[in-house]
Amino acid sequence: MDFKTAPEIIKAMKEKVSLGAFGYEWPQADYFNAVADWYEIEHGYRPQTNWMIFTTGVVPAISSIVRRVSHIGDNVLVQEPVYNIFYNSILNNGRHALSSNLVFDGEHYSIDWTDLEEKLADPLTTLMIFCNPHNPIGKVWTKAEVQKIAQLCQKHHVVLLSDEIHSDLVGKGQGYTPAFSIEAKSNVISLVSPSKTFNVAALHAAYEEGHDWLKKLKQQLNENFDYISQFIQENVPEVKVVSGDATYLM
Ligand SMILES: Cc1ncc(COP(=O)(O)O)c(C=O)c1O
Repeated sequence: MDFKTAPEIIKAMKEKVSLGAFGYEWPQADYFNAVADWYEIEHGYRPQTNWMIFTTGVVPAISSIVRRVSHIGDNVLVQEPVYNIFYNSILNNGRHALSSNLVFDGEHYSIDWTDLEEKLADPLTTLMIFCNPHNPIGKVWTKAEVQKIAQLCQKHHVVLLSDEIHSDLVGKGQGYTPAFSIEAKSNVISLVSPSKTFNVAALHAAYEEGHDWLKKLKQQLNENFDYISQFIQENVPEVKVVSGDATYLM
């Protein structure tokens, strides 16, 4: 969307920016607790933090899950019309996209349950990607619908992957039902993200500037390397420096 993100996020990012270092980090307990607190406050369900795993994006997660839980040639079930990038994750991994099309009555879309169950019952169908709420139709599935889909998936040994990236943006009507909150959840994976909610989806790298900075960095690294090599040679002769031309690692 085109809205500026929340002031709290800008403040936190300014603090991070003024720190100036963005190397590897790994989410700690406070990160997972924040996700659980968010879901409890916004959606009334608290996911268990020890069931959570961090990924760098919903689409990368979908692609990994497609590879992990299905096999080449399997059917991955979707509900057309649906977010086009699902197809990239399915087809680029050598799986077959099988749609149980949503039925449009001129005003609303709904599920053809008979068709859905037939397609879930196909032995080649091992994974269903469910869009909850649904992009592009904006539909918030009811608790009964989420429950029924999860039960059908369980009955037919299909893993249910529920993409819930739009869940915080339910502006009207009933709230959404997280797939992890329902009973038949042993075969369910919910994908959640702050990227749509807070308009932070494009926080990725930039290559346009920084050539001069990099040149100076490399000069400094070379000087550091020479300095340490000399120091070790003079003071710790039993340690041998293996010289190399690349990286800041020694
Ligand atoms: C349903 C759905 N899933 C995933 C994404 C993208 O997720 P990410 O940027 O975390 O890969 C979008 C973006 O439009 C989306 O609509």
